[in-house]
Amino acid sequence: MERSITVIGTGRMGSALVRSLLQSGYRTTVWNRTRHKTDPLVKLGAAAAPSVLEAVNEGEIIMVNVSDYAATKALLRSDPIASAIRGKLIVELTSGTPSGAREAAEWCMEHGALP
Ligand SMILES: NC(=O)c1ccc[n+]([C@@H]2O[C@H](COP(=O)([O-])OP(=O)(O)OC[C@H]3O[C@@H](n4cnc5c(N)ncnc54)[C@H](OP(=O)(O)O)[C@@H]3O)[C@@H](O)[C@H]2O)c1
Repeated sequence: MERSITVIGTGRMGSALVRSLLQSGYRTTVWNRTRHKTDPLVKLGAAAAPSVLEAVNEGEIIMVNVSDYAATKALLRSDPIASAIRGKLIVELTSGTPSGAREAAEWCMEHGALP
């Protein structure tokens, strides 16, 4: 069965990633703060989720690719998202510091994300 992947943040890097995932045949869901920026990706076959929570629910693997870790935190650190990441692989592609990466990984593991 094809894997389902969610990409949160479809800026320059996120969009390139989504195009590549679609070309490789992955069922791909996208969410971006500025919704219309996902339109070209939807034309290529991506599904646009109306909220971060719905985007997380759609993917087995969640790739986050926003400007910085502060944005990632603001998007993910809520009780509904904490429950939704259980059993999923979270891939943080956003640039940040090693300590920021460790702290983010700890939060994901505390809530049952895959190691
Ligand atoms: N481009 C590269 O070749 C490259 C290479 C290595 C690493 N990176 C890293 O990848 C990350 C993204 O780079 P990029 O080039 O794709 O940047 P970008 O084109 O500027 O896109 C930034 C993305 O972050 C979103 N965003 C910013 N602040 C947000 C917030 N508060 N809440 C929700 N979404 C927010 C933007 O949403 P909107 O569309 O709504 O503004 C957009 O989707 C950065 O950390 C960058 O350092 C990029």
